[in-house]
Amino acid sequence: MIRSVVRGIGSALPPRIMKNTDFEGVVETSDEWIVQRTGIRQRHIAGSGETTASLGEAAARAALQSAGLDAGDIDLIVLATSTPNHTFPATAVEIQQRLGLRSGFAFDLQAVCSGFVYALNTADLYLRGGAARRALVIGAETFSRILDWSDRSTCVLFGDGAGALVIEAVEGKGSIADRGLLAASLRSDGCHMEKLYVDGGPSTTGTVGHLRMEGREVFKHAVGMITDVVEAVFADAGISAKDLDWFVPHQANKRIIDASAKKLGIAEKKVVTTVDLHGNTSAASVPLALSVAVADGRIRQGDLVLLEAMGGGFTWGALLLRW
Ligand code: UT7
Repeated sequence: MIRSVVRGIGSALPPRIMKNTDFEGVVETSDEWIVQRTGIRQRHIAGSGETTASLGEAAARAALQSAGLDAGDIDLIVLATSTPNHTFPATAVEIQQRLGLRSGFAFDLQAVCSGFVYALNTADLYLRGGAARRALVIGAETFSRILDWSDRSTCVLFGDGAGALVIEAVEGKGSIADRGLLAASLRSDGCHMEKLYVDGGPSTTGTVGHLRMEGREVFKHAVGMITDVVEAVFADAGISAKDLDWFVPHQANKRIIDASAKKLGIAEKKVVTTVDLHGNTSAASVPLALSVAVADGRIRQGDLVLLEAMGGGFTWGALLLRW
């Protein structure tokens, strides 16, 4: 049985850091409110010339380096993003060009904050189906470009950045002991569209638009949706929370992360949290959190890792892999 095994990981963050106190005077807020309600202390904000493509390229190059591979070894690029450089062509193709790659195929995938979980699942299916051997799966965002900087209920929550994995098709035994992607559960439900959306687009307003969110409404659904897909993955893999080594959730709000871990019975010490450092970077948040926990030596080869995300649409999903 073919398994998609992680070969390398990389990330990229714009150098400019915006602290909570930097909002004071911009909108009516405080460091205390932001920390208490979200756990966020700072976020990285793209400067002029920094884009989803440039951040995605930097994360991809770091992932290739950690895998000991060249761009030429890659035959598929899937980029999860809701903030592409252009309406078309896909930013994945721009990253392909920036990497000097003229073979294989590349496309963008849009599932907002769940984008990376969707993209990893999609790339896994291509690898297991034999259509590609090695894939770059990237989550890259510049949400700072679609924020309404006068809306305190959203502008303090998001940040920019990118993370990438190199995955490779490897023959496994078909058991839970295999390295690679082991189980996934994806969901969406468009009836929640108006709770988290962007109020513009090519086919409606002809503009890019700004992010709008009914935060309390999203919060209300988040924990239940997250735990549903995680339990589906547990059932599919025949495991329970105690078998996990690490839980790497989407980084939107520390309260959602804590409540989900508690409901699932996942010990606090197994939870990777980076929302304090990065804010919500949408599709980049899971690979960024993974890269932090790999770089500091927490996640090691052979560890059982659970990923999850939930966001606009709504979309939500969970994925189990052995590192
Ligand atoms: O990644 C995609 C998924 N997105 C999420 O998971 C986000 C989910 N939602 C959340 O994380 C939370 O709902 C928020 C952090 C967005 C808000 O926290 P909350 O505890 O749900 O607060 P709230 O929306 O109920 O607002 C409480 C109060 C309101 O004032 P009133 O109406 O009680 O007088 C807001 O106007 O806090 C006010 N408020 C703020 N105050 C200071 C809203 N934003 C701010 C702010 N600073 N930045």
